[in-house]
Amino acid sequence: MKLNSIRSAILGIGMAVPSKILTNFDLEKMVETSDEWIIERTGIKERRILEDGENISKYAIEASLEALEKAKVSPKEINLIICATLTPDYLIPSLSVLVQNGIKAINAGAFDLSATCSGFIYALAMADQFIKNNPNWKILIVGAEALSRKTNWKDRTTCILFGDGAGAVVMGKSSEPEKRGIIDFILGADGSQWQLLTLKGGGSCYPPFDKRLPEDEYYIKMQGREVFKAATKMVEKTSLELLKRNNLTTKDIKLLVPHQANLRIIEYLRERLNLPKDKVYVNIHKYGNTSAASIPLALYEAEKDGKLKAGDLILLVAFGGGFTFGGALLHW
Ligand code: ACO
Repeated sequence: MKLNSIRSAILGIGMAVPSKILTNFDLEKMVETSDEWIIERTGIKERRILEDGENISKYAIEASLEALEKAKVSPKEINLIICATLTPDYLIPSLSVLVQNGIKAINAGAFDLSATCSGFIYALAMADQFIKNNPNWKILIVGAEALSRKTNWKDRTTCILFGDGAGAVVMGKSSEPEKRGIIDFILGADGSQWQLLTLKGGGSCYPPFDKRLPEDEYYIKMQGREVFKAATKMVEKTSLELLKRNNLTTKDIKLLVPHQANLRIIEYLRERLNLPKDKVYVNIHKYGNTSAASIPLALYEAEKDGKLKAGDLILLVAFGGGFTFGGALLHW
């Protein structure tokens, strides 16, 4: 493991989710499905959903303020805000700019990052690079999604999966580079299979209300079984490669925090990495798949549950539509 003398680290973490809960039993009344089927195939029991009239920026701001408070960093000290999201409130302005205004980060630049469910890992890798070049910078990363707004509630193959929420971290230079901070990351993509997971409507090819496109294309569409196969390969390969090139083995990992897309994908990875259950963090049963928000939500709850202590070696791994994939190794 090669450690740079300047390492970026997570200085504080926050999360915020809507209070409205949509259970599997609620879904039974909306589409032909069952609590039993959803739990067996996905591990999901319930998810959080925005109320009508609410927007995800509200939760992105709430999560950010908590992360800032925990990091003991004031909004004025933030140099850059990166929001990983595929469901910003608007296309203009970006979600990051709404967060910048909401938290009064008057000295920050702000942009959104689109890498589907891998977005948080992509943002972490970007922040790491900025901090290595500008060691005094403080960067706010937000993973926030309003997937309920892009879910086809008549499609039982997808509507059981998604949820809304926001997680945020403040990144800065590690004060103990020998013990804490990002070690390495992998970012990847495979566009050859893009047709397996799409949200075509509303982009510039098919602008909103374009009559050429069937209505269901204005929502997330997925060939679940095929995505499942690709996802398992991507997360296994990424995890093993990251460990190998840092001369680490799965025994060195204190906690694996994977993107929460499907419990069966997480279980597959756990078995391939030969990790005991208590070394893999899972909270998919409460939130479903929240795309770019899922890893910060899991990190937040892992810390709260006492599963993450300063200096612990953790592995983050994600995949998502595109396909995109990514992994990060860090000392908490
Ligand atoms: N309730 C009951 N039956 C259902 C439901 C449902 N909600 N959904 C599908 N079925 C039926 C199907 O119609 C099918 O019936 P058939 O055999 O008569 O044709 C049967 O159940 C099995 O369907 P599969 O699609 O093969 O089910 P599978 O075990 O693959 O589970 C799932 C589906 C949960 C979607 C799984 O494939 C999956 O998790 N895929 C990966 C999804 C993912 O990780 N996406 C990540 C990216 S998300 C993003 O980027 C925003």
